[in-house]
Order: sequence, then structure tokens, then C-alpha cells
Amino acid sequence: MHFSDLGLPVVVAKALEQAGYDTPTPVQAEAVPAAIAGHDLLVSAQTGSGKTAAFLLPALTRVSERSKGSGNGPRVLVLTPTRELAQQVEKNALVYGEGMRFLRTVTLVGGASFGFQTRALSRPVDIIVATPGRLMDHMRSGRIDFSRLEMLILDEADRMLDMGFIEDIETIVAATPAERQTLLFSATLDGIVGKMAERMTRNPQRIEIERKEESGNIEEHLLYADDNNHKNRLLDAILKESDFEQAVVFTATKLGSEEIADKLSDMGYSAACLHGDMPQSWRNRTLNDLRRGRIKILVATDVAARGIDVPAIGLVVNYDLPKQAEDYVHRIGRTGRAGRSGVAITIAESREFHRVRRIEQYLKRQLAEAVIQGMEPTRRPPKGRRPQGAGARDGQRRGGYGDRKPGGGYAGKSGGYGDRRGSSGPRQGGHGGERRAPRAE
Ligand SMILES: Nc1ncnc2c1ncn2[C@@H]1O[C@H](COP(=O)(O)OP(=O)(O)OP(=O)(O)O)[C@@H](O)[C@H]1O
Ligand SMILES: [Mg+2]
Repeated sequence: MHFSDLGLPVVVAKALEQAGYDTPTPVQAEAVPAAIAGHDLLVSAQTGSGKTAAFLLPALTRVSERSKGSGNGPRVLVLTPTRELAQQVEKNALVYGEGMRFLRTVTLVGGASFGFQTRALSRPVDIIVATPGRLMDHMRSGRIDFSRLEMLILDEADRMLDMGFIEDIETIVAATPAERQTLLFSATLDGIVGKMAERMTRNPQRIEIERKEESGNIEEHLLYADDNNHKNRLLDAILKESDFEQAVVFTATKLGSEEIADKLSDMGYSAACLHGDMPQSWRNRTLNDLRRGRIKILVATDVAARGIDVPAIGLVVNYDLPKQAEDYVHRIGRTGRAGRSGVAITIAESREFHRVRRIEQYLKRQLAEAVIQGMEPTRRPPKGRRPQGAGARDGQRRGGYGDRKPGGGYAGKSGGYGDRRGSSGPRQGGHGGERRAPRAE
């Protein structure tokens, strides 16, 4: 299968070639022709598998044809949960639509100037990429005309619902023409996402692409720690012994991300934090610096867990466990993107073993427990109550890497991380119905 088989405009196929895309990824091969044929879609596929192009290519195909409607309003609306993701999606649209001379895109996100956005909305626009909150602000002041909207796209739909955007989304959907095409991308298509999808799509095609173990390209390890001090020493060792271009360290709290970024900076790393309480201009600068390679280690809350695509990230460290099991999959998915390999190391305190277990239950497999020599935890999860299988085979656990090695560095020095275990790799999807309190990033 080649991009030219997907029914794309020649200019778009050319832009993809220039971007170095040879062949469509599986989700693109399935979703693009179906969307171009006009179907509504419900899509779930693993992290880093090219879902952005899977919805942008059909969107650009639409926009490349003349609008049948009149007015200045958007022809395509993309909703994303975070500001950074909205900006990234717009950038991708400009890359894939490079040859489309009259393509107009606008990003509507909080923390940015209303004036600039308002001016942009007074001119004709093809694609709006927005977070629900700021889009609603513009809708309330009557600045958006959805009368010629042809396509509505939701990226990371489950996350938007988790963040409490359901009412906003319902209002936005109700404001768009009923005959629009709807593409919904979500880690899960069950539970409340599925219910919402039912209400907003017509005869949707369901595309679910599971990760195959053979293509599992993220090497995962689990390290137990006694306390915070121990966690810091482990983080230090991981960063020293890993061979990576760039890394993301995830923390549970905004304050934690600042403290660790400060600590790493003091140690001489080019590190910076990213969380939802920072002014947007800092958030933008930080992410741009990361993309340009000026920042080596990003210390972030889950605001960076979804969608963010920085190919040079070779290492993800979960300094704190994610609050929700499914966030684990998204966090580690910041590495190993587009077929690259990556290493993901999760640090858990011994008393948190039940939370590790919840993650393993969600993954339907066990995480390989490992130790760094000289930094073994003194307290271990109680044996009988440990996640079944995890850490049960001490000999192998301490015996090095098995047949896979992380980017380099650990072997020999530390005795390495333990063997890899588990059957099916992480994938998005499969667990619906888990509700949580709204939280803003
Ligand atoms: N057909 C392709 N060939 C080569 N690279 C591609 C192709 N499609 C996408 N990519 C690259 O793959 C990377 C991941 O793409 P993208 O961000 O769309 O993934 P995703 O599925 O949305 O991931 P996530 O679930 O984390 O949001 C990007 O760097 C993108 O440029
Ligand atoms: Mg994405």
C-alpha cells in the first residue's frame, strides 16, 4: 500500500513524501480511505502510530475541494484535550498541507491572545484546531459560524471526557450541521466514550488496531524504591546510565515537576518542567525548546502524557506512578514512536505495589521488575501479595537483560535491568466505563 493508493490530492501525497513518509501506517491505511469515502469513524490504535495523519489527510482532502457552503466559517473542526496538542495538530496540518496554497488554519486555545484569534476568525478559515473551553468562549461571543462545517474530529476523546469537557463537547456538536462527518479517535471506544460516540456519529466504522507483540518497541522496567530519597538516587542512576537523546520524567504533581526539574538543572542537565499552572508562553517555549533539542529532559505532569510527539525522546521515566492505570500507556507512548525503539522505566514505592498491580491488570500483562545493583530496595512488596509473576524469579531478574538491551549503558555497570516478561504489549483501548472526577490540566 502506498499513499498514492489512498485517494489523496497529489499535493498532499507530495508533502508526505517530503516529510519522509514512505508507506501509510496500519491505522492510516484503514482510516484514510474510509474517511475519504465519507464514513463516520471510531478509531483506536496504539500510541505513536500516526493517528494524526489518519484524520488530517481526509480533512485536507476535503478542504482541497471547493466548499459548497458560503461564509467564513471552518470546514473542519478538530478538538483536542490540551493546548500543546492542538498546536501540534495544526503544525502537522501545515506540513501535510504544505502544497495547498490557500489552506488556512487557526488554533483556538486558552492562555493565548483573544485578539489574535478573533482577527483570524474574521477571515475565511478551513481548519480550526481547538481545546473545548476556548472554542466555547468564541462560540458564546458569536464569532464562529459552523454553517459550512463538513467534518468534526475528536482526538483523544476519552481524555477530553476525563477532563470534564462532556457538556462543552455536546454543546459544540449540537452547534454543528447534522450532516457533518464525524471522526472520533480515542484510547477506548467503550464506556461513556462509546455512549457519546453513539449520539454523535451515524453508522460509524469501527477501526481498532492492536499492537502486536513482535512490533513491541518500548522496553519497560519496573524499579521498587523505599522512599523519596531512594527514588531520587534511582532517577539519578537511570539518567546517568541510560543512553538517550531526550527524556521525559513524569511526576504526579505540578510542584513535584518543578522540584525535580530544578534538581536536575542543579546537577547540570538541561532540564525544564511542564505543567498546567505555568503561563502558556512558558509552556510553549518549553515545548519548542524540547523539540529543538535545547532541553534534554522534560519533567512533566500528565499534561504531556497525551499526543505529544517528539521523536528524539528515547526514555520515559515514571518518577511517580500515574494516577490512572491507562495513563501509563500514554506516558510511555511518548517514546518509541513511529516504529522507533524506546525505554520506559517506572519507579514505584514498595507500598504502592497494589497500584502497580492495577496497571498490570489494565495492561493484561506483568511489568518486568528490575534492580540497579547497589540500589536494591530494602523493603519489597510482600511476597504472596506481589503481582503474580512479577519479581518472582530473582535469579533471572538480576541476571541482566535477557535478549534485549536498552539504548546502552546499564549493562555491566549495574547488572542491568531484569528480563522482559509479559505477553501482549500496551495498546490503547479495551477498558471502558472507568469514570473519574473532572480535572483540569
Ligand atoms: N506513514 C508514516 N510514515 C512515517 N512516519 C509517520 C507516518 N505517519 C506518522 N508518522 C510519524 O509518526 C509519529 C507519530 O505520529 P502521531 O503523533 O500522529 O501518532 P499518534 O498515533 O497520534 O500517537 P498518540 O497516541 O501518542 O497521540 C510522528 O512523528 C509522525 O510524523
Ligand atoms: Mg495523537
